[in-house]
Amino acid sequence: MEEKSNNYSWLLLIWRMVVLLVQHPIGIGVMSFVMGFLTIDPFKMGPTGEHKFRPVRHEIASYEEVMQHWPKDNKSRLGSEGKLEFVDQVFGPESLEFDANGNGPYTGLADGRIVRWMGDQIGWETFAIVTNAWTEEACGRGVESTTAKQWKYEKQCGRPLGLRFNKATGELYIADAYYGLLKVGPEGGIAKPLATHDVGGKPILFANDLDIHSNGSVFFTDTSKRYDRVSHFFILLEGEATGRLLRYDPPTNQTHVVIDGLAFPNGVQLSHDQTFLLFTETTNCRLMKYWLEGPKAGTVDHVADLPGFPDNVRANDKGQYWVAIDCCRTAPQEVLTRNPWMRSVYFRLPLRMSLLARIMGMKMYTVIALFDENGRILEVMEDPKGMVMKLVSEVREVNGKLWIGTVAHNHIATLSYNPRVSN
Ligand SMILES: *[C@@H]1O[C@H](CO)[C@@H](O)[C@H](O)[C@H]1NC(C)=O
Ligand SMILES: *[C@@H]1O[C@H](CO)[C@@H](O)[C@H](O)[C@H]1NC(C)=O
Ligand SMILES: *[C@@H]1O[C@H](CO)[C@@H](O)[C@H](O)[C@H]1NC(C)=O
Repeated sequence: MEEKSNNYSWLLLIWRMVVLLVQHPIGIGVMSFVMGFLTIDPFKMGPTGEHKFRPVRHEIASYEEVMQHWPKDNKSRLGSEGKLEFVDQVFGPESLEFDANGNGPYTGLADGRIVRWMGDQIGWETFAIVTNAWTEEACGRGVESTTAKQWKYEKQCGRPLGLRFNKATGELYIADAYYGLLKVGPEGGIAKPLATHDVGGKPILFANDLDIHSNGSVFFTDTSKRYDRVSHFFILLEGEATGRLLRYDPPTNQTHVVIDGLAFPNGVQLSHDQTFLLFTETTNCRLMKYWLEGPKAGTVDHVADLPGFPDNVRANDKGQYWVAIDCCRTAPQEVLTRNPWMRSVYFRLPLRMSLLARIMGMKMYTVIALFDENGRILEVMEDPKGMVMKLVSEVREVNGKLWIGTVAHNHIATLSYNPRVSN
């Protein structure tokens, strides 16, 4: 507002931004990274280390506009009705999948394993790993898997994110943040790599989620060409748009670029009739549609603007779509979004960073929303106090129950769900 005023109020403005930023889920990542960094190498280099931190402007629907149309869940149903299960048994279960017999869930963990639930008698068992470099000694960090202690080992151990069974073959397909696209047979074991590079030879740096077409092709996201998973908050802070939607074709074993230049492409979901797919763009807080067939084939539609940062999108059996959203955008954070220079300044103020430590009591919470294919909101459930869920990665609706994953905590949330009669 008053960019021409003196230095003091300018700093105050920045400071207010910083305060508001850390009330945001990304803030935690930034803060822990920054704090960790400061203890190693205080002021010599930028906090992004080997990467040049280059914030860019990105156009997203205004905060006000989005919030005006966003229905609030006044009863906080996710908080009051949600239940935590498997506490400290699963570490960062990001994607939840069930096999053709309805067994599961199967889920990928922060320690690099894919595990499956075998019922109360047996509990969780290891189903697959994405690399033979996985060892219990190097990778098995237990409940600490979701902390920074795992970061150094992620590259070696793998970090399985999106999971999908191929209904035709019973094979489990895996998008791993370090090992690309892989698959493993119905008996599990060590997964086999399918795609680590695109057809032009560019590496797949950060595979994130996938879905499988009935013709065998696999659509999957590669979140960034510049930052890997451990550094993912810099993708958000920069606003960089080097992510891609890719397609792996089994007959040729080649991976084609479907869409380039996306800002943190994340979840992928094909429609039931396979005429389109939906994907989320996390940095831009939106749900998008890519047409595979029909008059608009090859084009992208904007489906919905969201109040926060979406992760995976999953269809229910009615052809509706659950989107997991880490909340929420704030008006001041939008100022940062629209002013890359402010983000640059933020990272060059070591003094501010030391102050950040005092504001660790930040708020972050979860919103899950159900959409129809045109972006009409059918359901919104929130947990504004973070009573059950703080960070959410995926919502799977199976037989009247929602299974909710999280990339950063050691549990799965569940909720019995009876859809409202629509009017
Ligand atoms: C929630 O509360 C707000 C005001 O506090 C009201 O405008 C809105 O209609 C309520 N939403 C529902 C779904 O009841
Ligand atoms: C397909 O490509 C992957 C990596 O891009 C490679 O590991 C695999 O061996 C290839 N498979 C075949 C059958 O060529
Ligand atoms: C499967 O269908 C998709 C969408 O129409 C298409 O892009 C892809 O090339 C097809 N794959 C094969 C192997 O035919």
